[in-house]
Amino acid sequence: RVAELAPHGRQMAPYACQRRTPLLHSNQPLTEALETLAEEAGFSGSEGRSLAFTRAASVLKALPGRLGALEELGSLPGIGEHSRRVIQDVLEDGVCAEVERVKLSERYRTMKLFTKIFGVGVRTASRWYQEGLRTLLDLQERNTKLTRQQQAGLRHYGDLNTPVERSEAESTSRAVQEAVKRFLPGASVTLAGGFRRGKPRGHDVDLLLTHPEEGREVGLLSRVVSWLDSQGLILYQHSQENSYGLREGPEPLGGRDVMDRFERCFSIFRLEAQGGPGAPRGWKAVRVDLVVAPVSQFPFALLGWTGSRHFERELRRFASRERKMVLNSHALYDTRQNLFLPATSEEEIFQHLGLEYVPPAQRNA
Ligand code: GTP
Ligand code: MN
Ligand code: MN
Repeated sequence: RVAELAPHGRQMAPYACQRRTPLLHSNQPLTEALETLAEEAGFSGSEGRSLAFTRAASVLKALPGRLGALEELGSLPGIGEHSRRVIQDVLEDGVCAEVERVKLSERYRTMKLFTKIFGVGVRTASRWYQEGLRTLLDLQERNTKLTRQQQAGLRHYGDLNTPVERSEAESTSRAVQEAVKRFLPGASVTLAGGFRRGKPRGHDVDLLLTHPEEGREVGLLSRVVSWLDSQGLILYQHSQENSYGLREGPEPLGGRDVMDRFERCFSIFRLEAQGGPGAPRGWKAVRVDLVVAPVSQFPFALLGWTGSRHFERELRRFASRERKMVLNSHALYDTRQNLFLPATSEEEIFQHLGLEYVPPAQRNA
């Protein structure tokens, strides 16, 4: 059995970035249970506990087959006592009582409802919950103070919580590509995020813009966004300027969070429906992230924006703990040699880190 769990006689590697994690795996009921608890821990502000459940789930996703018995967990890294109990319950009864309780709890359900609003994080949702708010109607009727972003999120709540299909992501990408061509021929638009990992649907469309000549990309985004806006394609947007390189030296970029400093635009597109004449309505609101990277940083941006979130977190943790390097979406810095390690492809970044290359489809950790 152990041989089955560890193909080629190898133990499962401790970091998710050392493993291949396909989109589809054989332990869905177990990972769903663990991820529910991870989400709930996140809602309560227990980041450490949340991460522990996420890690356990991620290990199970990398198993080549179904986990049949609890004893098989012995050879796996990063599965704590609590996760073990959850796994045992699901294996024995098909469900875990604790997870079922969480899913039914008023707090979990309300937090889920609120955090699904574009622009609402755990802190805001938690405050609203404490104030006694429970429904989207409550938010409107009690005149809760909302940012412009949250207002847009609420207005398009239904659409934005309907999965984006791959065909919709591709037509979004084409629309952006056409706009980009008008202002900067030769610039490229790359679909990143979950779609690049092979997901058939997602919660948004992540697009990376660059130009093969360093510096030519400056100013592109605002022109593209203005033009798309003038064509009636944009329902909401807020942009952020590039702030990288304003300070000297490498920055870990806030450890826990993944925010980077690229010029970018968080937006909601008005996408023409592809349903044809029978479609109930002519358009659909779709969340789109546009990010501009200078070509020298593009491989780092691509690696950083392809995800999964957990895979990225593990890459950075591996870099810092095992290699004394700082990795972010802009660069890789070696603190032992005090130098930046440039790369022209994702493969080179893995090489610098001394990691076997993991293709996007295997980064679903
Ligand atoms: P869905 O969109 O839910 O289908 O999945 P996804 O994996 O595409 O998630 P998401 O769009 O939230 O993020 C895509 C990738 O971009 C993830 O790996 C994130 O870690 C990364 N990402 C998201 N926001 C930021 C950010 O502000 N900075 C950086 N560097 N990365 C980010
Ligand atoms: Mn995405
Ligand atoms: Mn995104």
